[in-house]
Amino acid sequence: MTRSQQPRAQWLGRWGFVLAATGSAVGLGNIWKFPYMTGEHGGGAFVLVYLACILAVGVPVMMTEIAFGRRGRGSPIDAVHRVVAESGRSPGWSLLGWMAMLCGFMILSFYVVVAGWSFSYLWKMLTGGLAGSGVDDMVAIFVANNENPLNLGLWSTLVTLATMLIVGKGVQAGIEKSVSWMMPGMVVMLLILIAYGVFSGGFGEAWRFLFSFDSGSLSSDGMLAALGHAFFTLSLASGAILTYGSYLPARASIVRTTFSVALADTLVALMAGLAIFPIIFANGMSPEGGPGLLFISLPLAFQAMPLGTLFGILFFVMLSMAALTSAISMVEATVSWLVDNKGVTRCTAAWGTGILLWLISTLAMLSFNLGADWTLAGRHAFDWLDYLTSRWMMPLGGLGMVLLAGFVLKSEVFRDELGLSPRWYTLWLFMVRYVSPLGILVIFVDALGIARV
Ligand code: PHE
Ligand code: NA
Repeated sequence: MTRSQQPRAQWLGRWGFVLAATGSAVGLGNIWKFPYMTGEHGGGAFVLVYLACILAVGVPVMMTEIAFGRRGRGSPIDAVHRVVAESGRSPGWSLLGWMAMLCGFMILSFYVVVAGWSFSYLWKMLTGGLAGSGVDDMVAIFVANNENPLNLGLWSTLVTLATMLIVGKGVQAGIEKSVSWMMPGMVVMLLILIAYGVFSGGFGEAWRFLFSFDSGSLSSDGMLAALGHAFFTLSLASGAILTYGSYLPARASIVRTTFSVALADTLVALMAGLAIFPIIFANGMSPEGGPGLLFISLPLAFQAMPLGTLFGILFFVMLSMAALTSAISMVEATVSWLVDNKGVTRCTAAWGTGILLWLISTLAMLSFNLGADWTLAGRHAFDWLDYLTSRWMMPLGGLGMVLLAGFVLKSEVFRDELGLSPRWYTLWLFMVRYVSPLGILVIFVDALGIARV
């Protein structure tokens, strides 16, 4: 193992980690997935369960991951290896790091396709390519956009290129610099869009839809979806948060930063709901639009509204930036592992990773056109990547992390890193030993079909 001798990079600014980790967390998960999942699962009750999952599972797992990263100062593989060695435990646990790294890479392989939709819709908004009068026209545009592999591939390739360009520049000059203007920009755009929603006439209805907890009856499927989404939305068990944590200065508080990131991610998801549903309701459309909610219902609504094109452009710029700041976090684990262990420069590592990523994402992209029939057990590549990561690898990786932290490692490790008072430390231990694992096990019981909860 050749290891470069320079000290590991650190975030430069005080807000470096929080901005980058929030950039990772806030993404298509918040603006695309959360609203349509809320729509599909009936609104308020889903939102309540989702919030509970963030608190009971997401926050403890995130603290654990950041602590692993900072303690081990390395990519998930190296960091877990070192932390485990410190407690004199089996190096076999670094398999968890391998899985996390692979998971981030696999997520990115299909994420760039959805991010490509966002960029292509921005382009359509700018060039008037979304002309059409009804739902049928919009569905036709969405289908046509997917049907041509050269078109769809062009957009996902562009996203891949942009991602690698940023990551190749490094932690401070690439990642930190790009998030430090994209994140504030996104928040401003989101606020403008909410203000627009307030005046669109559907705001009251949207508010009730999201926050009337008593109204909806939630299915077990909805609860499991909420739990799975807690992992995805906080970028957990995929190497992203752990690797960003490895650049965290020693004096920063892990507990405080975790709560900031989780809170920001949750606020953006709710705000995205408050920006999107008023527009949907004001135009008499149904909230159960599914994955097409953003790409079919929303463009249609923008068309019907005054200044709709302008706000549509704003919306897709925001979505594209959110996707990009998440995408860069998904490969950082792989790139930093290559740099630390294979003696290559960051640039070489980024382009090498990019080529492999491009090949796999092309397979995911082809699921929408040429490869629509290339299925295995009823799923094509895009679905397999999504299913394997969100149903198996993320929960399994998260489970491994909390069990490792809660039962296997020396207690000083986390007591030092988290810097909690004895009482809060006891609470954290209780969460990672019992509450989070139990929550995660429920997903498996369901996925294995042993029982329906
Ligand atoms: N959290 C991101 C989102 O909500 C997705 C993501 C998953 C990012 C895993 C990094 C790692 O869109
Ligand atoms: Na998110």
